[in-house]
Amino acid sequence: MVAIKAPQTTHKVRHFLTLNDISKDELKSIIDRAIEMKQALYEGRAQPLLERKVMGMIFEKSSTRTRASFEAGMAQLGGHALFLSPRDTQLGRGEPIEDSARVLSRMVDIVMIRTFGHDKIERFAEFSRVPVINALTDDFHPCQLLADIQTFVELRGSMAGKSVAWVGDGNNMCNSYINAAAMCDFELRIACPEGFNPSSDLINAHSDRVKLCATPQEAVQGTDLVVTDTWASMGQEDEKNERERAFADYQVNAELMSYAASDALFMHCLPAYRGKEVSAELLDAPDSAVWQEAENRLHAQKALIEFLLTQ
Ligand code: CP
Ligand code: NVA
Repeated sequence: MVAIKAPQTTHKVRHFLTLNDISKDELKSIIDRAIEMKQALYEGRAQPLLERKVMGMIFEKSSTRTRASFEAGMAQLGGHALFLSPRDTQLGRGEPIEDSARVLSRMVDIVMIRTFGHDKIERFAEFSRVPVINALTDDFHPCQLLADIQTFVELRGSMAGKSVAWVGDGNNMCNSYINAAAMCDFELRIACPEGFNPSSDLINAHSDRVKLCATPQEAVQGTDLVVTDTWASMGQEDEKNERERAFADYQVNAELMSYAASDALFMHCLPAYRGKEVSAELLDAPDSAVWQEAENRLHAQKALIEFLLTQ
């Protein structure tokens, strides 16, 4: 018999399932670190700080930015990333999420998951020995918020005291903006068509900072940042036509941006549907920060991974 003792974890494993899993101070230090790491990468000073660390990446939905940024980020940090899709793992053949968590977390140092129900990632995290990152669920997309906050900070400084307009669907991104309003101390004005508002529990919990507006113009009036997202998220493909009719007056374009502050920024997590939620011109206009926002997924997530692995 050979008794090999598994390394004991003396601390509680930290997960990042929503922004609420970190404190305001931790959020600030992750953003500062992301900016520092970006600068170091640009200057050829990036260090392989996480040599031999392995990330498991479970994707139950499609992705371009999330996959590329996590995979490139792990390589830049000296580690490795494993792409795991339900198409070719046992997850797609019905192996319980709890069993997958128990097994995978004995093999890798950190896991990121993109899936449907938020409860699924919570169950995975409950049974995981290693940190779990939410790379998008139907309810939240907190990694995108790290990139959005970093982008705003780089271009305009702190978000504290600023106002942000969310125009469009009250979806996973909108819910994450509600959490961010409390974490970063900004006012959030939300304009969604009737029947497409975000979670009322979440709005009520943050009613001091979050306000529902009757029209996109009212939400955007004087704001420092205007944000939108696709009208039909992944999993809602069948509702596309019905949603396009409901959202027809909610396009963000130059005309709507004219209600915002003169130096207001426009953000979109992408992929964007030109001519639907955003006009083609606005995506490439000077007030659009979308390409920098997309790039910052890489830097912000590297800072997040480093934070979670060094707790
Ligand atoms: N914004 C975002 O998460 O993009 P992907 O779906 O391409 O990962
Ligand atoms: N709300 C979108 C975001 C895509 C990155 C979706 O869930 O499909």
